[in-house]
Amino acid sequence: MAAGTDATSGRNGPDDASRQVVGSDGAGALVVIPTFNERDNLPLIVGRLRTALPGIHVLVVDDSSPDGTGDVADDLAARDDKSRIQVLHRVEKDGLGRAYLAGFAWGLDRDYQVIVEMDADGSHAPEQLSRLLDAINDGADLVIGSRYVPGGKLVNWPRRREFLSRGANTYARLALGARVHDITAGFRAYRRIVLEKIQLDTVESAGYCFQIDLAWRSVRAGFDVREVPITFTEREVGESKMSGGVMTEAFTMVARWGIQSRLERWGVGRRP
Ligand code: GDD
Ligand code: MN
Repeated sequence: MAAGTDATSGRNGPDDASRQVVGSDGAGALVVIPTFNERDNLPLIVGRLRTALPGIHVLVVDDSSPDGTGDVADDLAARDDKSRIQVLHRVEKDGLGRAYLAGFAWGLDRDYQVIVEMDADGSHAPEQLSRLLDAINDGADLVIGSRYVPGGKLVNWPRRREFLSRGANTYARLALGARVHDITAGFRAYRRIVLEKIQLDTVESAGYCFQIDLAWRSVRAGFDVREVPITFTEREVGESKMSGGVMTEAFTMVARWGIQSRLERWGVGRRP
């Protein structure tokens, strides 16, 4: 391959420019960052994003964090001269899923072509976001930054969390039959058409099983869902909001979706 050709897509020529939905500086994409008590982490992650992708826009969705994360977010927004940082304040802690739904609705009301999910605590590296956006530009509809495909890595994650996460993925894969290796991952890029089509108004999952829910809906809707390897690094500051309730919700919801989809499939099989 000649020097200067695009090694990630392997495609070149005039068609590529028209296919590109996100600029190489991130222009055209919105990163939704949900926050609950991330005062110390937020400025770091926003700063890293700015450096990695200067053209990208950010929406912080804060659930009235008691530690004042909302004020920190407002301050970051006020200091950005090009209005690339916006803040959505919600009145109470209402779960990761609902925070994302509010953020997606905000982004879809505007003309962002791609909407990204990313944690505030540094677990997802802004420096690796371009891998996800490259895959979108290459034609994918949903790109999942995956810990469990070749090249994916975990740094400092407690063994207990890794065990839970791998178990949740195996369980979801068996129950749903979806061939996604990291279906609970929270580092993703969606083309807007995906979020427009998968009926977000019927999403019930409040907590982290929201991630499984949306990936599963995207697979079932026939979208091109791809995984790219990322390095997931455990947060250094603050605490995880994962709880027993979050896990119970995921367990029962996934069982329900698995049974529903099998019933639908058998129903289809019985038709003349
Ligand atoms: N607004 C809002 N409301 N934000 C929330 C809420 C909430 O109720 N709960 C969590 N968050 C924010 C956190 O502040 C953080 O920015 C992000 O959501 C992820 O929360 P963590 O508590 O750091 O998640 P984790 O590290 O335990 O879980 C990671 O792994 C999960 C399993 O793979 C994340 O990547 C999850 O997205 C992923 O599902
Ligand atoms: Mn985290």
